[in-house]
Amino acid sequence: MVNKITVVGAGNVGATTAQRVAEKELANTVVMVDVVEGIPQGKALDMWQSAPIEGYDSRLIGTNSYAETAGSDVVIITAGIARKPGMSRDDLLNTNAGIVKSVSEEIKKTSPNAIIIVVSNPLDVMCYVAKEVTGFPRERVIGMAGVLDTARYRGFLAEALNVSVRDIQAMVLGGHGDTMVPLISYTNVSGIPITQLIAQDKLNAIVDRTRNGGAEIVKHLKTGSAYYAPSAGAVQMAEAIVNDQQRILPCAAWLQGEYGMKDLFLGVPCRLGRKGVEAVVEVELTSDERAALEKSAEAVREPMRAVKL
Ligand SMILES: NC(=O)c1ccc[n+]([C@@H]2O[C@H](COP(=O)([O-])OP(=O)(O)OC[C@H]3O[C@@H](n4cnc5c(N)ncnc54)[C@H](O)[C@@H]3O)[C@@H](O)[C@H]2O)c1
Repeated sequence: MVNKITVVGAGNVGATTAQRVAEKELANTVVMVDVVEGIPQGKALDMWQSAPIEGYDSRLIGTNSYAETAGSDVVIITAGIARKPGMSRDDLLNTNAGIVKSVSEEIKKTSPNAIIIVVSNPLDVMCYVAKEVTGFPRERVIGMAGVLDTARYRGFLAEALNVSVRDIQAMVLGGHGDTMVPLISYTNVSGIPITQLIAQDKLNAIVDRTRNGGAEIVKHLKTGSAYYAPSAGAVQMAEAIVNDQQRILPCAAWLQGEYGMKDLFLGVPCRLGRKGVEAVVEVELTSDERAALEKSAEAVREPMRAVKL
């Protein structure tokens, strides 16, 4: 347990994240901060009133000011807006970049030693904004996407094979978008290579469904996007950090030569512990996987160039 975890944004992802953090007692105090007056306060109070039932002692605070967030050990950024009708991707990019920039400036001032987990989209570029603005070392700015994409992939595989999700080991790398790279060569069920258990066409269909996992949910919901699994992903990363678990999870990390790439955030296997990203793990890739990762990197570099800081 650490002293304080802050969640920025009290919307769907933020509120669910705060609730999960408190229920797991990852911090003594869980602070939710949002620009909308009343929402973080009301939701935090409501969550706190579930504590006697659920039996946790993490205190929850909702606020519009960063004063209460001061000295946070971990900050999870979920602030942002969804694309509105008539808005281009670039408009959204720069609107959310502006939000993540202002949030990052506050974190730098009030929690200079925090480890930041970025959730806001477009994910890889928002990680870049947070890193540039705070000037934090790469160990302390990490993006959540791979854990979610991998969970979707594992969930679909478990369903198709009628096996426990626990026995499915897999890794989805690359940028958080349609160019993500599910690593078939590293997918297994209790050590059995996936290709021995499922026909290639069924596996290809699952890979496609994983790539479109977010869009499938948006289509059902019509307004808003996924938040139960995204918040679970962010909290799994926070737990690995807070409890110094040294878990290897796919996270967006600032590459410095790994996988032959430099100066961009991309989803790669990371070892997470109390220092944040303790190592980027390099694995061998097939030539197809390497080509797909390069393509995914290009899809991240393009908006990175377009973002105004
Ligand atoms: N990385 C992923 O895998 C992943 C998955 C799901 C959602 N997301 C992203 O997470 C973000 C949040 O999604 P959501 O469903 O919770 O949206 P939401 O609209 O429900 O919540 C966003 C919240 O951010 C707040 N906000 C806006 N500007 C702010 C600021 N400057 N400071 C603090 N708070 C501010 C809003 O008031 C709102 O409460 C979106 O960008 C979404 O695309 C990422």
